[in-house]
Amino acid sequence: MNRHSEKSSSKDGAARQGLLFVAVALVAALAAAGGAALLINIMERKQEARNPFYRVVEITDETEDPAIWGKNFPLQYDDYLRTVDQVRTRFGGSEAVPRTPDDVDPRSIVAQSKLDEDPRLKTIWAGYAFAVDFREERGHAFMLEDQTFTQRQIVAEQPGTCVHCHASVYVPYMKLGGGDLIQGFEAMNSMSYAEARKLVNHPIACIDCHSPDTMQLRVTRPAFIEGIRALKASEGIENYDVNTMATRQQMRSYVCGQCHVEYYFEGAEKRLVYPWSQGLRVEDILAYYEAAEFYDWTHAETGARVLKAQHPEFELWNQGIHARSGVACADCHMAYKRVGALKISDHHVRSPLLNINRACQTCHRLSEEELKSRAETIQGRTFALRNSAMDALVDLINDIKMAGEAGRNDAGLTAARTFQRKAQFLLDFVEAENSMGFHAPQEAVRILGESINYSRQGQVVLRDEKNF
Ligand code: HEC
Ligand code: HEC
Ligand code: HEC
Ligand code: HEC
Ligand code: HEC
Repeated sequence: MNRHSEKSSSKDGAARQGLLFVAVALVAALAAAGGAALLINIMERKQEARNPFYRVVEITDETEDPAIWGKNFPLQYDDYLRTVDQVRTRFGGSEAVPRTPDDVDPRSIVAQSKLDEDPRLKTIWAGYAFAVDFREERGHAFMLEDQTFTQRQIVAEQPGTCVHCHASVYVPYMKLGGGDLIQGFEAMNSMSYAEARKLVNHPIACIDCHSPDTMQLRVTRPAFIEGIRALKASEGIENYDVNTMATRQQMRSYVCGQCHVEYYFEGAEKRLVYPWSQGLRVEDILAYYEAAEFYDWTHAETGARVLKAQHPEFELWNQGIHARSGVACADCHMAYKRVGALKISDHHVRSPLLNINRACQTCHRLSEEELKSRAETIQGRTFALRNSAMDALVDLINDIKMAGEAGRNDAGLTAARTFQRKAQFLLDFVEAENSMGFHAPQEAVRILGESINYSRQGQVVLRDEKNF
């Protein structure tokens, strides 16, 4: 009140001062009441945000069924259930294709066939199960049934190892290994698929990414635990333990890297291995396979010992600007959303292009149209070069086939097959990666450029007169 006193010098002033005092006191009281109410509200909401669930049920390290976790975390569970949605984007998502269920395969809806979309794939994979059935991938809810009923199960004997990335395996591994995760993993790898399949009940579930007591992220997949340890060792970090040494932001990608990676089965025991001990770039992985003298199958038309790349999302993302800037898989594929005062992670894992406003606009101040167009420009360029690479490889395959029929000498054929192996793996690395170049645009087209070069070099070798 001091300042008012100073300004008031008359009696009139004194009276006014009294009135003013009452008015100010009244405003202050009102403000205080309002403020307190607001404060209580904020505190309640903070409390809500810090402890965003009531523990309706007890969850332990053996609670496999996501529906039980869903009682404590209904918002995340509801979104998780929505991974059954099938929506097509220009290059991603998936189409819901109806089919008539039969005795062998009860599915009434599947995703579109990539082999029908592009028959060149059948030539490239001739003699391998992938040339029989290969579909667009769809939501997490389908992972177990799509694996169980793919025709690749019919044309080839698949091992128990397959379920590592297609089911909730944490509890089954622990049971099988008598409390030892790695032992359970090893035991299931060497089973037949049919045997292993009987031990699992759900597609990926809460327990595969979360600790039941703290809800913190954790990695439960042995092949990732071992793969990332080998990778870190190659970078000079010994005995890396992902669950104690990774940062929270790293974990927001590592939980996805548990499955969205290139892999192979090692030895007679069919151990699942992520080939990362020389690094994550396609050349590092190829060098690993060369050293291991590994091949997936012998090409039916050329006799080349070739490799098949599988969904290297984690590896390609690692080479891109988003990874370099610390942007995690979950930032785009499980974008934050608000529900009341809560900020939750969208467990409806899907194409971010179906959710641009949350998945991209939190960081990029551009319109939805512009962001979509930037993404599709990258994808369109990758797709065009992927087509050139595919033509080049099919040309090489045809040339080797003809050269073989013409009775050319072994030196030339062997050299050409080596080029086929390289060209094929590089092309497949981008083809099998599911972002059509978006995760690392420049790296993707670099790889395709190298692939085209290998295919054409293979053709040049066959044209060399000394190889006639
Ligand atoms: C900066 C955002 C961003 C990050 C980070 C990111 N992605 Fe993506 N991802 C995309 C976009 C955009 C697409 C293309 C979607 C489309 O074509 O509909 C995509 C596509 C995919 C697809 C195919 C989806 C579909 O609907 O066909 C998978 C699977 C995927 N990403 C997994 C991952 C994994 C695993 C990581 C981390 C290792 C990751 N992504 C990191 C943005 C991102
Ligand atoms: C390292 C983890 C991993 C292993 C091991 C694995 N998968 Fe998958 N699989 C995935 C991922 C990730 C996708 C989705 C991305 C894609 O389709 O490219 C997928 C997709 C699929 C699909 C649906 C798309 C398609 O190809 O038609 C089938 C079927 C499938 N896998 C079968 C198998 C079989 C059979 C095995 C064992 C030989 C196997 N998977 C082993 C991770 C794995
Ligand atoms: C246990 C292995 C596993 C883990 C862990 C996993 N995925 Fe998948 N993911 C798959 C498989 C298998 C499919 C294909 C399922 C099918 O086609 O039936 C798939 C499909 C997808 C798709 C395609 C969805 C669509 O609607 O087309 C996206 C996107 C995706 N995963 C992103 C992620 C992200 C991001 C993470 C981490 C938060 C993650 N995945 C963790 C195995 C896994
Ligand atoms: C593929 C891995 C994965 C699966 C499966 C998964 N989550 Fe999550 N969850 C995440 C990620 C990533 C986050 C973000 C964590 C962070 O930023 O620390 C998260 C966060 C959460 C949180 C913290 C609040 C929030 O939303 O950010 C809760 C609660 C949660 N998940 C519940 C569940 C439940 C319930 C299920 C099963 C229905 C489930 N999660 C399945 C990956 C997964
Ligand atoms: C968590 C923040 C974050 C999110 C989420 C994010 N971005 Fe980015 N994005 C970045 C950063 C950081 C860069 C690097 C450029 C820079 O520093 O400005 C970048 C770069 C890009 C580039 C340039 C790529 C290149 O190779 O030069 C494109 C295109 C892009 N983002 C599109 C998207 C789209 C589409 C989405 C949603 C699917 C998305 N971003 C989500 C942070 C983000």
